[in-house]
Amino acid sequence: MAELFELTHPLVKHKLTIIRDENTGTNQFRETVKELSTFLAYEATKNLPLQEVAINTPVTPMVARELSGPKPMIVPILRAGLGLVDGFLSLMPQAKIGHIGMRRDEETLVPESYLTKLPPEIEEREIFVIDPMLATGGSVIATIDILKERGGRNISFSCLVAVPEGIKALQEAHPDVKIYTCNIDSHLNDRGYIVPGLGDAGDRLFGTL
Ligand code: PRP
Ligand code: URA
Repeated sequence: MAELFELTHPLVKHKLTIIRDENTGTNQFRETVKELSTFLAYEATKNLPLQEVAINTPVTPMVARELSGPKPMIVPILRAGLGLVDGFLSLMPQAKIGHIGMRRDEETLVPESYLTKLPPEIEEREIFVIDPMLATGGSVIATIDILKERGGRNISFSCLVAVPEGIKALQEAHPDVKIYTCNIDSHLNDRGYIVPGLGDAGDRLFGTL
């Protein structure tokens, strides 16, 4: 069963409240999402592999540690996943970025893929899939299907808000994928929105309400 990590830091809960508030405008919403994504990135990168490297400090030679393996890859699920990219990049400026576009049909809630653009050789990379919302789970499951079809193996998923329905669906579809979330909310409403949630993440990020 895929491991689930819910962030408990008080600053995370405080910042979540800011973006949940319907009176928060686009500018502050975007800035706060970026801050929250840095907390997610800190958690989601805690198992990155290290190797030893010989260096000289100003005081002495030492064997220190540095990241090993190929550059990691960040995969925002378009559109709303773009809002989390800067936070992940701030901790991993060397990362490659792959884009996967998914659009949820508002009636059926079934996601449709409209773009896949990935860097080469994803097999050995640590892959960080990011999207603010885990609702039914359809979008992230379809995204990870695409990544696995292309050879991706070391995959985690980070989101701002998740619901039990989506967590269960993702854990069943991809039991090897670790899930990081700033909060587990109550449930989905009959339109597939997270309750209490924060509304339509893409619209609030990009001002397309
Ligand atoms: C939203 C969100 C997720 C998806 C979650 O995207 O950003 O990708 O819904 O829902 P699910 O778990 O039920 O699949 P949306 O399809 O609204 O597209 P957008 O990012 O372009 O706004
Ligand atoms: N997508 C969103 O943007 N918000 C939700 O509450 C559910 C899916």
